[in-house]
Amino acid sequence: MKKVHVIRRERFNAAHRLFNPNWSNEKNEAIFGKCANKNWHGHNYTLFVNVVGEVDEETGYVIDLKKLSEIIKVRIIDKMDHKNLNLEVDFMNDKITTAENIAIKIYEELEKDIQSTGNNLYSVKLYETENNYVEYYGK
Ligand code: NI
Repeated sequence: MKKVHVIRRERFNAAHRLFNPNWSNEKNEAIFGKCANKNWHGHNYTLFVNVVGEVDEETGYVIDLKKLSEIIKVRIIDKMDHKNLNLEVDFMNDKITTAENIAIKIYEELEKDIQSTGNNLYSVKLYETENNYVEYYGK
């Protein structure tokens, strides 16, 4: 079986703050520093969605990138772009909005729709800044 990875890049901008409600303000500031700023701050996130599957004989595709882009748009971009990740994104629930937690949640949001195309979601890579990114492989 020849498996090929297909990767789609998407970008979104969002506001957040890192804050653990179980801690005092002092402890939040000690752990998270300026990321705990109560008046929020923002990032230009870059997301890489990595799908793996076999090449279809008839189309030559693993997954139609138009379809992959549409799945990411509906499930992620429409819900996160220009939003406050702590307040406005239902699937972030009460999670601390670190890149780690955002990547896990994005993976979980996308998994079913991508499986329904006959492929598998391999990984989600999320850049929070040019120098810092996280990757989640579903386990
Ligand atoms: Ni931040």
